[in-house]
Amino acid sequence: MLVLIQASVAAGRYFAAQVDGDKVVTEKTSAADVVTQVDKASEKVIRDLIQSTWPDDEMLGEEGTDPGSDAAKTAVAAVGGAPHLWIIDPLDGTTNFVSKIPLSVVSLAYASRGQVMLGAVYDPYRDELFYAVRGQGAWLSSSQVALSPSGDELPGKRLQVSDIGDLRLSVVASGFPTRADDREAAMQNGMKIVRKAKSLRGFGAAALHLAYVAAGRLEGFWEYDLNAWDIAAGSLLVSEAGGVVSDIDGSPYDLAVRNVVACGQPDLANDIGQFLEEGTRPKTTNESE
Ligand code: IPD
Ligand code: CA
Ligand code: CA
Repeated sequence: MLVLIQASVAAGRYFAAQVDGDKVVTEKTSAADVVTQVDKASEKVIRDLIQSTWPDDEMLGEEGTDPGSDAAKTAVAAVGGAPHLWIIDPLDGTTNFVSKIPLSVVSLAYASRGQVMLGAVYDPYRDELFYAVRGQGAWLSSSQVALSPSGDELPGKRLQVSDIGDLRLSVVASGFPTRADDREAAMQNGMKIVRKAKSLRGFGAAALHLAYVAAGRLEGFWEYDLNAWDIAAGSLLVSEAGGVVSDIDGSPYDLAVRNVVACGQPDLANDIGQFLEEGTRPKTTNESE
């Protein structure tokens, strides 16, 4: 647990210190899907810390995986069932980071045989560390408190999802697809939900959305075509805070899920899922026209 917290905080502090600096921005699959040298170095901070304690563990990191949905699916299939697996998004919210918008987080999870056991989402700009332990709960702490725990109690404030299950009273969030072809369908589907919802937010960082659902700040979140490293840590935060996480088609969450819906209350998840199922589903890579 301490390694997970140390690595998340170290990487978050590392990238946040460079948000106003010059970046080398490289396109991955398109101009809307970019990476910087800081993303890569941030992943190295995490890998080095984990490897110094657990040298034999497997790693599934965004920057160690080829770009594109297919490579991500292949990587999950290859290592998803490992007994000791770390799932790393060293900088979730790269577009924000490039635009100097202080909304990016580290998302780090530890999974065993396909089940997420530990998860942390660290927001270095607000010094908010959201973390969860399977079967024990989820907490929000400052890095200072989390890094020097005293006594047996896990440090921080217990996280609890919102008890609002009515879409009309819900603030919900989603992401904007990087693939241009998917944008129209995603927006059309989103409009159906937004028409009924209290309001919509989009912070440009999937893991932050999930952490906010866990904290009861958002009632729900959905997004298509995410990767395991965007969702793994946040999924445990939401479920340990009493919420529900699944595929948009309603099937249970696992590491291969890419189209995700996460809500405080099951009724809201059902409503959102229904609107999305009724709509045109954005195509994901390699799906035929
Ligand atoms: C992205 C962010 C964004 C989401 C994208 C993700 P990245 O991750 O989470 O909010 O809409 O789908 O790829 O590339 O900034 O780590
Ligand atoms: Ca991400
Ligand atoms: Ca990333």
